[in-house]
Amino acid sequence: MRANFRRFMSTDPASLYSRKNPFPATHPVNRKLSGEGSGKDTRHHEISLLGSGLNYEVGDSLGLFATNNPALVAEILAAIGATGDEIVSGADAVPKPLRQALTSDYIITQPSKEFLKALVERAGDAAGQLRDLSADPAQKKALEDYLWGFEFIDFLRAHPSVKWTAEEFVKTLRKLQPRLYSIASSLRANPESVHLTVATVRYESHGRAREGVASTFLAERWPGEKTAGVFIHTAKHFRLPEDPATPVIMVGPGTGVAPFRAYLQERKVTGAPGKNWLFFGEQKSAADFLYESELAKLQADGVLTKLDTAFSRDQAAKVYVQDRLRENAKELWAWLQYGAHFFICGDGARMAKDVDAELHRIAETEGGKSPEEAAAYVEAMKKEKRYKKDVY
Ligand SMILES: Cc1cc2nc3c(=O)[nH]c(=O)nc-3n(C[C@H](O)[C@H](O)[C@H](O)COP(=O)(O)OP(=O)(O)OC[C@H]3O[C@@H](n4cnc5c(N)ncnc54)[C@H](O)[C@@H]3O)c2cc1C
Ligand SMILES: NC(=O)c1ccc[n+]([C@@H]2O[C@H](COP(=O)([O-])OP(=O)(O)OC[C@H]3O[C@@H](n4cnc5c(N)ncnc54)[C@H](OP(=O)(O)O)[C@@H]3O)[C@@H](O)[C@H]2O)c1
Repeated sequence: MRANFRRFMSTDPASLYSRKNPFPATHPVNRKLSGEGSGKDTRHHEISLLGSGLNYEVGDSLGLFATNNPALVAEILAAIGATGDEIVSGADAVPKPLRQALTSDYIITQPSKEFLKALVERAGDAAGQLRDLSADPAQKKALEDYLWGFEFIDFLRAHPSVKWTAEEFVKTLRKLQPRLYSIASSLRANPESVHLTVATVRYESHGRAREGVASTFLAERWPGEKTAGVFIHTAKHFRLPEDPATPVIMVGPGTGVAPFRAYLQERKVTGAPGKNWLFFGEQKSAADFLYESELAKLQADGVLTKLDTAFSRDQAAKVYVQDRLRENAKELWAWLQYGAHFFICGDGARMAKDVDAELHRIAETEGGKSPEEAAAYVEAMKKEKRYKKDVY
């Protein structure tokens, strides 16, 4: 009986779309959040799930199948002397024109090992430093450093005498993967819609302007009515506490604020009585205060109990979210003693580690613990699922 019920549930429209069978979604809203004078282009995107039957919980992410920039595809075609009409194998093993395969199926930015190996074999001495570093396994790190910031197009341009047929070139490529984005909305507050908060990745390397595939697809190459494949990536490890009365402390600098906007919407719409404390950080208060007016309204409504901000570039010395945690150590410790759940979202390379270190220090200074006891305290929080991270 139970098994039959589960089988029935699995044919629910909610389960029809998945990573393997993404929903063709539209993109009705693409709004710049970064203001004048910002060094960033961070955007608010709304994606329609209308008719998909897809459901999500706050804390989940959206998977997006983006396509490459056609201008880069055109440059690569020119560099290998192809028209784009040559039929090649797609990443799904279906034969298709080269232009289409380079647009939707393959990574055409960071070069693959297979491509570099084939290039060294074909270019010989002309591959210079690339050949020398590739030949010596002890130089693995040096090779990585050398390759940082180079793309396929640089190597193709540097070696015009190396010839590739369309199929030979494609055989060296890896499959283009979907990107994940933290969902910044509650489905209960925004039926059949997903909001995202995305920093557009643009940088310069070796004298060329470069861009991230999916973030620029969202910013520039996904007009409202066109469709792109999306799916829900569930994140059971990053859910609000089961008890709506449990307080939450949220540390979300930059785009890390995204899931916390969703949590606050959810707690508002469900009337959850638990207190909510957000630590937000960005570069400049005047240009980078993401969702400033929404957060002010949530404070005025009593949903957002406390908001502490750290604008790193408003003054000469950097101020980061962990500095605000430290300044509020006594109260923060009191919230934790009361059973608050502690969440971190955003940059995993540096921020999350530094915030984690600050949490240990607070357990030492406010909880009177030794470093070992503080580590055991934080570990216990993790085991009790009161300390949750979603970092990237
Ligand atoms: C669970 C999860 C949630 C996420 N949520 C969000 C979110 O809410 N908002 C958000 O904005 N992002 C989020 N991300 C990150 C997101 O998935 C993408 O990684 C990000 O948008 C970049 O993707 P892209 O396709 O635009 O760039 P890519 O095409 O993947 O390019 C990025 C790559 O470019 C290279 N690169 C970048 N900068 C430089 C540089 N200065 N010099 C040389 N090379 C460089 C690096 O190789 C880097 O890996 C999340 C990631 C995960 C895993
Ligand atoms: N791998 C890396 O080195 C790295 C670094 C940063 C961001 N990223 C990635 O870039 C993407 C977008 O980032 P984002 O725009 O969301 O925001 P972000 O770059 O993370 O910046 C948000 C705020 O955090 C500050 N910050 C920098 N280092 C910090 C630290 N160690 N501890 C606490 N705060 C710190 C920034 O200050 P300042 O900018 O003034 O220092 C800024 O005020 C994310 O994917 C992120 O992972 C990667």
